Amino acid sequence: MASSEGAAQFAGFATYGPFRTGAGYDLTVENSIYVCDAFQHRGIASTLMEALIAEARRDGRAVMVAAIGLPNEPSCALHARFGFREVGTLRGIGRKFGRSLDLLLMQKDL
Ligand SMILES: CC(C)(COP(=O)(O)OP(=O)(O)OC[C@H]1O[C@@H](n2cnc3c(N)ncnc32)[C@H](O)[C@@H]1OP(=O)(O)O)[C@@H](O)C(=O)NCCC(=O)NCCS
Repeated sequence: MASSEGAAQFAGFATYGPFRTGAGYDLTVENSIYVCDAFQHRGIASTLMEALIAEARRDGRAVMVAAIGLPNEPSCALHARFGFREVGTLRGIGRKFGRSLDLLLMQKDL
């Protein structure tokens, strides 16, 4: 999504891709959403999320998963607002800036 203020600027994006390989997971996608700092708190992620969910439904997908590195209250709140529910947390599964990272899985049935 590009900003409408003057010259075009990159404001953020939302996309989805396969959740896992294997035909059994074809109907499930994992999303990714990002809004640049300067454009946050203006409803851009909400607009993107609405479009993303609508596209996944049109595409015949049944489930959308969000994998959120913790802590990330803004992302958890955004996903909860769109009906994603917490289904589990993978503990210490990643590393970022030398620290262990937990990954929260949230799921929305489409
Ligand atoms: C999460 C993110 C996409 C939200 O983008 P945004 O455009 O600011 O979000 P919106 O303005 O559409 O806000 C929608 C809802 O998200 C939640 N939210 C957004 N920012 C928040 C914050 N700082 N604290 C708590 N909740 C927040 C709220 O529920 C908000 O609804 P409300 O305004 O009615 O309270 C943005 O903060 C971001 O890109 N963060 C960095 C990347 C990231 O964490 N991506 C997700 C990876 S899983």
